[in-house]
Amino acid sequence: MIFANRYFPATRLRRMRRDDFSRRLMREHTLTVDDLIYPVFVLEGDNREQDVASMPGVKRQSLDRLLYTAEEAVRLGVPMLSIFPVIENGKNNEATEAYNPDGLVPTVVRALKARFPELGLMTDVALDPYTIHGQDGLIDDAGYVLNDETTAVLVRQALCHADAGADMIGPSDMMDGRIGAIRQALEEEGFIHTKIFAYSAKYASSFYGPFRDAVGSAGNLGKADKKTYQMDPANVDEAVQEVAMDLEEGADLVMIKPGMPYLDVIRRVKDTFGVPTFAYQVSGEYAMLKAAAANGWLDGDKCMMESLLAFKRAGADGILTYFALDAARLLKA
Ligand code: PBG
Repeated sequence: MIFANRYFPATRLRRMRRDDFSRRLMREHTLTVDDLIYPVFVLEGDNREQDVASMPGVKRQSLDRLLYTAEEAVRLGVPMLSIFPVIENGKNNEATEAYNPDGLVPTVVRALKARFPELGLMTDVALDPYTIHGQDGLIDDAGYVLNDETTAVLVRQALCHADAGADMIGPSDMMDGRIGAIRQALEEEGFIHTKIFAYSAKYASSFYGPFRDAVGSAGNLGKADKKTYQMDPANVDEAVQEVAMDLEEGADLVMIKPGMPYLDVIRRVKDTFGVPTFAYQVSGEYAMLKAAAANGWLDGDKCMMESLLAFKRAGADGILTYFALDAARLLKA
């Protein structure tokens, strides 16, 4: 017999892959709508809506329009929105608008909370929408972002957001010691339920370009970068140290940002600390997938879902993503 001594693979992994039922049974990770946080860009005024050119499908909206977006998020079961303001009036060197109790963010938070009390709201704590120079903090004459002076403003901003009813405060600024300072102030003022969602390992990434277009800080920032406070993309031990500090100072959740190029950091952080760990699939990641899909080079929906699942596999508990509503619709279908 020609095949008498033929070799049989000891294990045939393809057996379990053959049918849909067995593929489903052995599936290790799943994406659900509970994993999604939807970032939104909010405009001053009324009845305003603008497309963000570099982020097809993403809009800047005034509050009256945003209410419809929030309603859709609630209908789809998305647990939380993250609010990013487009500040057109009131930028200055001291970022005083950042803690104006009648400013855009507190106003939007109050309105959304009144209408959709069950929808989680996170606010971004950083000064870049409010400074003339587009940096996340106050600067000295040489343009260096001052740590402790900035933190003092961030504390006022966080209290202002908490007072308006924000469920989570999201410091995205990367100042040292700001989580501890914000936590202490929240406790002292009685905001014991306000969660701190720390942008712990935020890299000085080039993938934020479209976001800076969306909030209109790109022009203010010009050719400057954020390398003196955001992390070097080459480092991962340092990310572990950042997360350790933020947890020690009172963070409830930690985040790694950007997402897909930093999956190794998510895995390392999750394995090291075992705390609620999130990824931010940032604007540039969204723009790349959208551009390729628009050209017919990739299947947009499939790549979107695969990219989101990858975060779960890497150990993330959830993902901030501009795809949140689209993904939720597919998950619901
Ligand atoms: C600023 C902030 C940025 C993002 C979220 N908060 C940009 C930056 O650090 O320059 C980027 C988000 C994205 O690219 O989607 N505090």
